[in-house]
Amino acid sequence: MQSLTQPSTHIISTGSAVPDHHIDNYQLKAIIDTSNNWISTRTGISKRHVISSEESVIHLAANASEQAIQNSMIDRHSIDLILLATSTPNDLFGSASQLQALVKAKRAAAFDITAACSGFVIGLAIADQFIRSGTYNTVLVVGADVLSQWVDWSDRTTCILFGDGAGAAVVQSSTRNKQSGILGFELNTRGLECNQLSIKYIPNENYPLGNSRHFNKMGDRNGHYTTLQMNGREVYKFAVSEVPQSILRCLSKASISPKHIDWLILHQANQRILEAVASKLEISYEKVISNIKFYGNTSAASIPIALNEAFANGYICNGDIIVIAGFGAGLTWGSMVIRWDILC
Ligand code: COA
Repeated sequence: MQSLTQPSTHIISTGSAVPDHHIDNYQLKAIIDTSNNWISTRTGISKRHVISSEESVIHLAANASEQAIQNSMIDRHSIDLILLATSTPNDLFGSASQLQALVKAKRAAAFDITAACSGFVIGLAIADQFIRSGTYNTVLVVGADVLSQWVDWSDRTTCILFGDGAGAAVVQSSTRNKQSGILGFELNTRGLECNQLSIKYIPNENYPLGNSRHFNKMGDRNGHYTTLQMNGREVYKFAVSEVPQSILRCLSKASISPKHIDWLILHQANQRILEAVASKLEISYEKVISNIKFYGNTSAASIPIALNEAFANGYICNGDIIVIAGFGAGLTWGSMVIRWDILC
């Protein structure tokens, strides 16, 4: 139950960006044993965008953020916090500070959130907490990933799925209408199944840090990261069983019936997952936003890209009930219910 004095959290603008270069299914067929028919029918994907060697996750994040900031018409110096959801940073210490510098939001605190494909939902939930507590007024939430740099392009079971991209939303405190904006969320983790989808760091057994005999061998690496490893069938089963239940719990907490959902924006992992979740919720597929055909799975970016496109193309209107749900590595998953209320 919301207190009368507590502000609510509203998305006031969105933005998104993908690299110019894309790879379609026919081009993949030239490098791995696959077909356009297999990829299209099993996943719904036709092409995916990938960054060049001159670009990084931060270029995409900055382009999406710039669009969201310009659409919001706020002064960038009023941004209090930048949350960058990414699992593919270009600096392990965090990339949000680079984003803060690029968008010239000098006042903003900034940090990364590592939660794979659930990252954007978790980012919005964190922003919501800071805003409801009165700590911050304006937060830039960004989901950006470049998994093309982490997949094994000779592994046909994974490389066909992923693409690069970024999406952003400016969220702000409002006391205007307490029945709109972010109405509720729920988040979950099942750490025992972290091996179902991972990019692991493997320390080099021959050169443990404590072994002084080898400590001075300059040039030897301490270890390395694997490429993306995934048990596709198990991840599929997990998504189709857990995501509908999470959405139902989230709606129940907000006292909203599934039949009142106007738009369902799920993490764009596989067209069949989108259809199965909608069917379990008994939601008409016309209410499901899907752009997976054009981008593949862009991890933390997929929900904000879909949200931005749906709003820009006039699908989403003020008053609409939107449910977003992310799921993926961790395993993590979470849902959020929003009543759209943007000042036009
Ligand atoms: N092209 C052609 N054949 C392929 C292929 C490809 N790119 N990838 C796998 N295959 C083959 C397999 O080798 C297997 O062959 P076999 O029957 O001779 O052993 C066959 O296709 C079926 O493989 P399977 O893994 O059962 O396919 P699937 O229907 O489960 O689809 C995924 C595979 C990965 C598309 C599906 O499991 C999936 O989408 N899982 C969820 C993944 C996901 O969303 N991850 C991210 C979460 S954030």
